[in-house]
Amino acid sequence: MKNSKELIVWDKKFQCGIKVIDEQHKQLVELINEMFNHATGNHIQENDYFNRAIREMVKYVKIHFAAEEKILLATKFPGYNEHKKEHESFILAILNIVNEHKAGKRIVFSNYCRFLKDWVLSHIAMIDKQYFEYLKSIAARKEDGTLSINLEDVENR
Ligand SMILES: [Fe+2]
Ligand SMILES: [Fe+2]
Repeated sequence: MKNSKELIVWDKKFQCGIKVIDEQHKQLVELINEMFNHATGNHIQENDYFNRAIREMVKYVKIHFAAEEKILLATKFPGYNEHKKEHESFILAILNIVNEHKAGKRIVFSNYCRFLKDWVLSHIAMIDKQYFEYLKSIAARKEDGTLSINLEDVENR
């Protein structure tokens, strides 16, 4: 695999224990890894793939951010506003690249993947991490041992 050293290896340190969030973070990492696998250096192939992959990425990032924000808002996480701003600026940055690409600018696909990788990893490891402990203290441990947040946990706050 040409870019195997670029791929993200999922690590326990990215995990917060709350199922819905961990699953979405894993999915984001998978999408980025898949993009790296398509960064072949063949510009025609990359262009074609990029058009589809980036739409998928934006869609999934929005789903994840919305889910996260919903939980942070419902649990009254104190850093909610700053967190939401981080999300918004990332969406803007992606859309900016998409628009440049549409306008005919040549995108170096592997650089673009690297940008996504760096942002997502540092966001999970540093920014999302700020709410990990907070949510853990709210979430109830479910019968199967996993943590998940439901309405009852939030209302019990
Ligand atoms: Fe996140
Ligand atoms: Fe986040």
